[in-house]
Amino acid sequence: MNPVKQIKLMSIAGARPNFMKLASIARAVGLHNQKNSLSSNTKINHIIVHTGQHYDQKMSESFFADLGIPEPDINLEVGSASHAVQTAEIMKRFESVLLEQQPDVLLVVGDVNSTTACTLVASKIEYNQKNDRKRPIIVHVEAGLRSFDRDMPEEINRIVTDALSDMLFITEQSGIDNLKKENVSEEKIYFSGNVMIDTLQQHLARAKESKIQSILGIAQPFALVTLHRPSNVDSNASLAPLLKCLAEIAEYIPIVFPIHPRTRNNAAKFNLLKQLENNPRIFLTEPLGYFEFLNLTNSSAIVITDSGGIQEETTYLSIPCVTLRKNTERPVTVDLGSNYLIGTNPEKIKATVRAILTGKGKKSTIPPLWDGKAGERIIASIIRQVAI
Ligand code: UD1
Repeated sequence: MNPVKQIKLMSIAGARPNFMKLASIARAVGLHNQKNSLSSNTKINHIIVHTGQHYDQKMSESFFADLGIPEPDINLEVGSASHAVQTAEIMKRFESVLLEQQPDVLLVVGDVNSTTACTLVASKIEYNQKNDRKRPIIVHVEAGLRSFDRDMPEEINRIVTDALSDMLFITEQSGIDNLKKENVSEEKIYFSGNVMIDTLQQHLARAKESKIQSILGIAQPFALVTLHRPSNVDSNASLAPLLKCLAEIAEYIPIVFPIHPRTRNNAAKFNLLKQLENNPRIFLTEPLGYFEFLNLTNSSAIVITDSGGIQEETTYLSIPCVTLRKNTERPVTVDLGSNYLIGTNPEKIKATVRAILTGKGKKSTIPPLWDGKAGERIIASIIRQVAI
């Protein structure tokens, strides 16, 4: 038998939406190392780096524990700062980690600052001569998504990360089309499916057992709300009308609102927090754990959000989702799924919510390859590539 070949794979996670994606990758690595222990001559040594972009127990640690992700091997502990400072700080701290560890593959997920900062470092690093590689193969999971709105920090992150990546794993057809238009060569593009849906499938049964609804004292039907996009929450002019609109919606359906720290901080700054807290029809909570939030999503009559990932989770679960943005980088959720992209006009939001709640919603289907196997496909492709 050939000697066992070790592949050193380093994954980066920094902010909340990264963790459910990393969970699928970590699980697929575990399955590969276990399942193939007799038949395969490759083993993956998985190193997890947490940048510390998100650091609160509820924004970070609880996800590692709930989703069974191994503890990070390294934590860069960068914390919150402006975009430039946060990105620069991650880059400074990550360079020495990369030089010391010299992984064969660097895997980044999604579109947060940590994703792009680490990709930038890896693309210009020079390993010492003892290593056959000059730098790691850079793998971007959830590549090719485009909102075509460069005012979104995530759009800049997506464009830069994709431009520098060697293997680009796609969740939906639009990702392939976008990358081809940007002249990315076809052999770099892999249609893998959606790692976030892998994790959802894996944990849905457990999430259904969560007692969060009785803990909150909420009965069905209810609406679930999340808001955190800077364009919606960073100014009084955008946040105040949205919160007023939610209060009006709450008059005919109670709302559960796990509030993001950015939104809470801004609502307090604009003197809007008290009226939210005092509304008996709005159940304001701290950010929730994965199981609790998935339980609420799955049981809600409607979700109102400006998140990216929640548009996909609701599509998979066939829960109507009203997205308070003027664009989406995930068009399959509108074309095939249960997502309604409606912007931030309060009258339009209220009319759409009312139409859906009175049974005038659309039918939705699950997009291709959102089948729970994306992580395994990604790991198989990486092994094939590294073995070359
Ligand atoms: C980041 C991502 C965004 C993602 C979101 C999910 C970027 C550019 N943005 O935005 O794409 O959708 O995460 O949450 O990477 N804070 C805490 N505790 C924490 C983390 C943050 O209190 O653990 C507060 C701080 O006041 C911080 C603010 O939230 O300044 C914003 O955090 P930051 O990481 O800058 O951006 P997000 O809005 O979370």
